[in-house]
Amino acid sequence: MIAHEAATPAAEHGAAPTEAAFRAVYGAAPAGIWAAPGRVNLIGEHTDYNDGFVMPLALPHTTIAAVTPRTDGVLRLHSGNAEGGIVELHTDTLRPAPMDTAAGSRAAPDGRWAAYPAGVVWAMREAGLPVGGADLHVDSTVPTGAGLSSSAALEVVTALALNDLYALGLTPQRLAQLAQRAENAFVGVPCGIMDQTAAACCTAGHALFLDTRDLRSRQVPFDVAAQGLRLLVVDTRVKHDLGDGAYAERRTGCERGARALGVPALRDVPHAQLADALVALTDTPDAPDTRALVRHIVTENHRVEEVVAHLDAGDIRAIGPLLTAGHASLRDDFAISCAELDLAVDTALAAGAVGARMTGGGFGGSAIVLVDEAAADTVSAAVTAAFAAAGHAAPRIFTAVPGPGARRLA
Ligand code: GLA
Repeated sequence: MIAHEAATPAAEHGAAPTEAAFRAVYGAAPAGIWAAPGRVNLIGEHTDYNDGFVMPLALPHTTIAAVTPRTDGVLRLHSGNAEGGIVELHTDTLRPAPMDTAAGSRAAPDGRWAAYPAGVVWAMREAGLPVGGADLHVDSTVPTGAGLSSSAALEVVTALALNDLYALGLTPQRLAQLAQRAENAFVGVPCGIMDQTAAACCTAGHALFLDTRDLRSRQVPFDVAAQGLRLLVVDTRVKHDLGDGAYAERRTGCERGARALGVPALRDVPHAQLADALVALTDTPDAPDTRALVRHIVTENHRVEEVVAHLDAGDIRAIGPLLTAGHASLRDDFAISCAELDLAVDTALAAGAVGARMTGGGFGGSAIVLVDEAAADTVSAAVTAAFAAAGHAAPRIFTAVPGPGARRLA
């Protein structure tokens, strides 16, 4: 038996251990327990900061938070996943302090993980919401640095807990926006809205079709098992870090392209007008790069719409070639893949996968592989063997079944 780790038991450890850990750390029971998931993105990569379309689904891997409100403005933060004990702050003195991104903000070494929940408190207070202090303990089964949005899970679980404890009455999408604000302005990572919306709004059995311009969304049924298929996640174990500048460079490159084309965002370039847009970009100073970025965003938005059409027609298998085309575009035009991601995708396809692509921000992290149920073990084994032969660390492969978004557990 090789293959996929059973994601579910390890991923869903339930509320009890987190409640026990909270009691051990703070000496009393928490007021409540909340959960928010990691995600994979099915299609629509780097489109979210171009006002485009995305289609994430929630993983069973979850961040669980036990939280009690405090009346004295003190914020005590503790993580079962990090060394260093309790981080103690005060709501009045929280200031956005972009981290030393070169050291890896996403992996949140030492006490840096605390910037995510602290940033949510800061963002809520900045928005004028009546949020005070809290004692918080978190445990997470979302792998960090794997492109599976551990940061968004941590932000959103904090936002949901505070929403309930301080009776704010905010919608899941509003919580996602506050979580994104925390990450952009407090943590200092210029991410889009996809990951936080996925953590807040996904539902079991569905992928979330989200228009990042107006934040309208639709739950699209995504029951791969019912069609004899499986969605594998291959965590290459190459740690990605959105704070290292390459993500921000792509973002500013896209904004430059939109400016050169005279549109508010690349979302506004229709697929049918792509060829004209590429010609129009000939005179820009960095024409080849800008053209490639624009081509990726315009074709990727189109691929999302095609994927949605296939899923609406009940044909999951038909999305395979679109996933694979998306990978080629991210690799060749957007230039954010890496040797391990390419190897995972190429090997899976050669071993019979229906489609495969990198998922998330890129530069490492994870790939997704759509595969016939009967071929899942063979494909997994082929990827594992190819990594060994290339001298890469063994990938972690598991099955993604779309799980629920953020929720209260107790
Ligand atoms: C990261 C960001 C998202 C999105 C993806 C790429 O996950 O946090 O906002 O831009 O990369 O699609």
